[in-house]
Amino acid sequence: MTDRNQILFDRAKTVIPGGVNSPVRAFRAVGGTPRFITRAEGPWFWDAEGRRYIDYIGSWGPMILGHGHPEVVEAVQAAVRDGFSFGAPTEREIELAETIIRLLPSLEMVRLVSSGTEAGMSAIRLARGATGRPKIIKFEGCYHGHADALLVKAGSGLATFGHPTSAGVPPEVVQHTLVLEYNNVAQLEAAFAEHGPQIAALMIEPIAGNMNFVRASVPFMRRCRELCTQHGALLVFDEVMTGFRVALGGAQSLYARLIPGFEPDMTVMGKVIGGGMPLAAFGGKRAVMEQLAPLGPVYQAGTLSGNPVATACGLATLRVIQRPGFFEQLAARTRALAEGLKAEADRAGVPFSVDSEGGMFGFFLLPELPQNYAQVMASDAQRFNRFFHGMLERGVYFAPALYEAGFVSAAHGEAEIEATIEAARAVLPTLAA
Ligand SMILES: Cc1ncc(COP(=O)(O)O)c(C=O)c1O
Repeated sequence: MTDRNQILFDRAKTVIPGGVNSPVRAFRAVGGTPRFITRAEGPWFWDAEGRRYIDYIGSWGPMILGHGHPEVVEAVQAAVRDGFSFGAPTEREIELAETIIRLLPSLEMVRLVSSGTEAGMSAIRLARGATGRPKIIKFEGCYHGHADALLVKAGSGLATFGHPTSAGVPPEVVQHTLVLEYNNVAQLEAAFAEHGPQIAALMIEPIAGNMNFVRASVPFMRRCRELCTQHGALLVFDEVMTGFRVALGGAQSLYARLIPGFEPDMTVMGKVIGGGMPLAAFGGKRAVMEQLAPLGPVYQAGTLSGNPVATACGLATLRVIQRPGFFEQLAARTRALAEGLKAEADRAGVPFSVDSEGGMFGFFLLPELPQNYAQVMASDAQRFNRFFHGMLERGVYFAPALYEAGFVSAAHGEAEIEATIEAARAVLPTLAA
């Protein structure tokens, strides 16, 4: 009897390109059959064969409370009863905006949208509109959604303009996007020296979760801030993944602790602020945000923006994560997982490095933590894939690609962490050879 996941995958492939609605779900990087999920609860989800997995993707970040948190479910149910969507303003949108601004003091105003892609794309348009400049800087290995201007990889040589990473993006569309190496101060300085007066924004994942887990070094981040200020460019933090995930105040609160007076000019958010519903946002200082329509000349809009069910879900999620001790406990759980995996890898003689912050983590089958995309991609993909499948067979669902971060939720208890480490104890020795 064929696996029901495979039956569904075959069926899906006839009507959905690749059988999935977002590429990484197809398991192309690791091979094998994607699991079709039927339901989820707390730290687990179940596939179409009824097999249970400890979930370390958490919908790729949003599910910080685990699945089906009762307070969130209740808030969503109540909201649904009052109506799905109005296309007119609601009080909950104000409440969510006020909450975000209170938690991220670098923001004075915020606009709600429906996906991280939309938020990133709109932030870039606003930065260009507000500065009157065309160019943007991004870093290799950072992902800011699939807007045309951001689907770019580095060209050859120093500080060159990038090449599209997707068919359908004409080179002219990315001619204003500079792609630099993450954590490379010299390249950054060279780019500003050459193009400073034309740079509208520097967009960065402060902890890059789309090349697994790579922190921007403090000197590098300090230089990003200084150069943006000096040249009148906007420093845009993409906290779609890190926001309300690595700390209540996002990654920006961590850099503010290490760099006196530090703050980004704009912030892009998603994932946790929607608690699993389609909701994202971008925000910044009033003078910049007031350039947006209907006040200013920068157009941006959305039929489902600030959706009443999504805002209820997001608000309930943000309410829970603000409780005293929430992040301390989440971070301790995540660290316990990271340290446990590392200890097992050391015992098995497998090169392994791991890092975590709040409820986000990354591990590499490399002896040292990488600092940029090229170093991440130097890791042994075959080995990672064997590890991934070994863990999956034992009921642990890590991200199905070596360049993706992992997520622990507040519902992951000691038992789940211990079960994960135990599975790793069985799998890691098979990788040593
Ligand atoms: C840092 C970052 N920015 C933007 C996005 C795009 O968000 P969405 O998938 O909601 O469009 C993602 C998605 O993973 C992300 O991780």
